[in-house]
Amino acid sequence: MPFYQRAGSLPAKRHIQFRRPDGGLYAEELFSTKGFESAYSLLYHLRPPTATLAVGEWRRKRPRFVPNEPVRNRHFLTKRSAVHGDAVEARVPVLGNDDITIAIAQVDAPMNYFYRNAGGDELLFVHEGDGRLATPFGTIDYTAHDYLMVPCGTTYTLSPNAPTRLVVHESRGHITTPKKFRNEFGQLAEHAPYYERDFRAPALAAPVEAQGEFEVRVANGTRLATYTVQNHPFDVVGWDGYCFPYAFNVDEYAPVTGKLHQPPPSHATFEAPGAAFCVFVPRLFDYHPLAIPVPYNHSSVDCDEVLYYVSGNFMSRRGVEEGSITLHAAGAPHGPQPGAVEASLGKTGTDELAIMVDTFAPLGIAEDSAALEDASYYRSWVEEPARAGR
Ligand SMILES: [Fe+2]
Repeated sequence: MPFYQRAGSLPAKRHIQFRRPDGGLYAEELFSTKGFESAYSLLYHLRPPTATLAVGEWRRKRPRFVPNEPVRNRHFLTKRSAVHGDAVEARVPVLGNDDITIAIAQVDAPMNYFYRNAGGDELLFVHEGDGRLATPFGTIDYTAHDYLMVPCGTTYTLSPNAPTRLVVHESRGHITTPKKFRNEFGQLAEHAPYYERDFRAPALAAPVEAQGEFEVRVANGTRLATYTVQNHPFDVVGWDGYCFPYAFNVDEYAPVTGKLHQPPPSHATFEAPGAAFCVFVPRLFDYHPLAIPVPYNHSSVDCDEVLYYVSGNFMSRRGVEEGSITLHAAGAPHGPQPGAVEASLGKTGTDELAIMVDTFAPLGIAEDSAALEDASYYRSWVEEPARAGR
């Protein structure tokens, strides 16, 4: 995240002696990205984070994806999923490619282990529920409509206070604010739909001083491991830098509205290698007297479009419900379903909330999501008389 944060106790300079009250040295950790070239933070642990007692297998089911073939528009009703559990084991992959995996998770249990994704950033969207994300940088209390950005390599636990429905994006790279929203100093620009003040950094409390055997489940792409470490991962007394987990609640997003229809890039939130993120929040519609509020028909020939429907009246979509995921495949025409354009005329605003991911490489369909699919979705644009005659 391109802004500076600091928390807790720090030495006067980096890389110098920094001593505990008992005279021992704190253990400095450089938490860096892109080697030593990009955003980083420095953390000071009570004891070294390197003390690994054992490395074992993590027998986690690996997601399997099949091509979207014959290529078509798809719809998954994720509320049909009966899988629940903790924030890692409850993940049900729906779509994925080499750049990103999109999963849902119904979280009703805390993690009794630590988890670290060392293969890329994770972006968790909280559809509903509240709870706490705990990391070495401190804790973030989350609530509905939060995005939780977890940098690659962050060890964490997630504990729900209330059943929590998540959309989990696992990137193979780093997820950042779009470059177009940042000025030459990295600050969010005046035209950006959010400001640094809208991003919630972790709150650092007293370090957990404990030694023993702590389980850390580690994922790095398809490679998995279970580490047993000697020192509690949350034993940090202070940290500073530019790389840390944070939360952003999309209710704070200030949408761009216009005289005529604003396309999805006007509603951008984040970007990642091979993916772009948008959010559609409650907003006023276009103000031209003859404006058509719902989108025009289109085929995005360069990307697959994924929408997750959070709440509200999705007036341009037939058959979708809260928790639905639609995939509008590259080159497959889509737009408002029959009657939606006429129904939208004269409307002055929308209460819809939906999040979007566009991917530039084709998405595969997770085998686990087959049971969630409305297989007839690609026919949902057919006008009723034709449907009656088939
Ligand atoms: Fe679209």
